[in-house]
This record gives sequence, structure tokens and C-alpha cells, in this order.
Amino acid sequence: MTTPSPGRLRPRRLRRTPALRRLAAQTRLHPADLVLPVFVREGLDAPRPLGSMPGVLQHTRDSLRQEAARAVEAGLGGIMLFGVPAHRDATGTGATDPDGILNVAVADVVAEVGDDLVVQADLCLDEFTDHGHCGVLTPSGAVDNDATLERYAAMAVAQAEAGAHLVGLSGMMDGQTGVVRDALDAAGHTDVAVLAYAAKYASAFYGPFREAVESQLDGDRRSYQMDPANRREAAREVAIDVAEGADVVMVKPAMSYLDVLADVAATSPVPVWAYQVSGEYAMIEAAAAQGWITRRGAITESVLSIRRAGADAILTYWATELAGWLAEER
Ligand code: PBG
Repeated sequence: MTTPSPGRLRPRRLRRTPALRRLAAQTRLHPADLVLPVFVREGLDAPRPLGSMPGVLQHTRDSLRQEAARAVEAGLGGIMLFGVPAHRDATGTGATDPDGILNVAVADVVAEVGDDLVVQADLCLDEFTDHGHCGVLTPSGAVDNDATLERYAAMAVAQAEAGAHLVGLSGMMDGQTGVVRDALDAAGHTDVAVLAYAAKYASAFYGPFREAVESQLDGDRRSYQMDPANRREAAREVAIDVAEGADVVMVKPAMSYLDVLADVAATSPVPVWAYQVSGEYAMIEAAAAQGWITRRGAITESVLSIRRAGADAILTYWATELAGWLAEER
């Protein structure tokens, strides 16, 4: 028996010192590639913590402005706003009301940060409907695709008038990107960009988000969001959104869909972003709180893995904190 020898092929050479590892790193995180999702609740006196997302708040209009200012300070790429209205109805009228919580919050944040941060708004009806679906319903209770598109068109224009730089279409209705692009253009908002949540899956990992927006949903979204079993279908969704004028496409959730993300990143002609969703956040926070994993290490590794899979930018609830760590490490 001869002793096995690694010979000349020694990959460990590049792992020996921190400087070697830093120079050999193939993937790097930068604050400018991070987008912070935030919740703003109508009628709150003080920010309200979320039980299932420790460290994340429902903001008041004032505390949201402060959060946006911190995001600029941290060098983040953008902020994504979700509105939580005090009242809901069947067609989600609060979404298109210029005085609706999301639209006033967009205007507040734009007044605070100007063009220093890409101000984005969630373009979906689920926070505004009393049944909690992402669209309007037919008399029999199905989500009515084409009637919903009319609502999205009006919502896009309302968000653009409020000053949004980019609208994030997360509703998964067929044709939404084209209809919203046309509506924005017709209203003179040719500069407002469209982020299409092209490959958005019907995921159990949105659970904590439903608490954050006080969702009224009783049921599921499987008739419009994608089946987690499907990988090839993501390419079709992306192709459709790109053909309809998407400026950016999204894969969501992130960590359980890194194969999909890698596929999309390999072929997309437009930037590809990924959303590390509420359940991904909650899992890591919960395990870290138990002392079962190292919090900072797990957060950094999880976001890095999304970047390594091909995301150009990442929506993560840890964006500001992570940006602080990245600044320390420089
Ligand atoms: C729809 C929307 C959802 C999320 C972002 N946009 C909820 C859903 O599709 O049910 C989830 C984000 C998260 O879980 O962090 N407006």
C-alpha cells in the first residue's frame, strides 16, 4: 500500500490566509446590490414589531422615512414598499386611491431620499382586498385575470404619480407586464421601470409576510402562482415578461429555488433579482435565537448563495444590517 499523495494539485493553497481567500473569492456582496423590503401600516401611532419576523416592523409613515434614510446611509440599492391599509374591499380600491397608504408612503419616501435610492412599490392587490387574493374575483370566486389587469394598470399609474422609480408586479396574472407597461406609457410615465416577478412560486415560505400585511387570505394562490415542482416553466414566464417589456425579472422565493435562479440568470437579457422571502428570514432568525446556528454566518452565507446562483440584486429583510457588516469587513 502506498500512501495517497495530493501531488501538485493542492486547491488548499488558495485557502491558506484571509488575503488569499479574499482575492480568490468568485462572488462578492455589495450594499448596492441589496434591496430592503418594508411594511407601512395605515393609522399606526408607533412602529409595531412582527412576531414571526423578529427585528422587522410595521412602520408608521414617520418611522418609514427614517428607515429609508438609514437605507441611503447604508448604501443600499433600493427599497421595496408594501402598504397595509386600515380598510379593505372586494376590488382593493385603497391600492389606486392617491391617498391610499402605499401611494402616500411612496411619496413620503421619495421626498426623503429623492433619487439616492431606487424607490419601488409592490404592485399587487392582496394587501388591499378583503378576500386577500392578488386580484378581483368572478361571481363564483375565481381570480379574474383580465379584470385584475385593469386594476393593476390603474395601480401602476397611481404609484408612478406618487413618484415610484420602479413598480414590482408580484401578482402573477397573465399579461400583467404588457398591460402595466402600456398604462405607464399612456400616462406619460415612460421612465418608470417594471420589475416582473416572472418566476414566483406558490410557496409556504410566505407565511410570516401574511402576518406582516395582516392578510385576509383563506385558501391558497395555486391558480396563479407557480407550482414548486416546475423548473422549465420559469423560462417561459421570463420569456413572456421580457417580450412584454419587463426591465428586470425576479425569482421568488430564493433559497429553495436556486436552480431556477441559475437557469434564469444564464439566459435572461435583463437583470435578474431574487427575493429572500419572509419564511427564509424567519427560519434563520428562529434557529439563531435557539443558538442552533450562528446568526451572522448563516445570514451572510444565505445571501451569498443567492448571489452565487446568479442574482444581480437581492431583496432581503437583512439588507441594512448586512450592508453594515460588509462595510466593517472592508
Ligand atoms: C404579494 C406578495 C407576497 C410577498 C411579496 N409580495 C405574498 C404572496 O404572494 O402571498 C411575499 C414576500 C415574503 O414572504 O417576504 N403582494
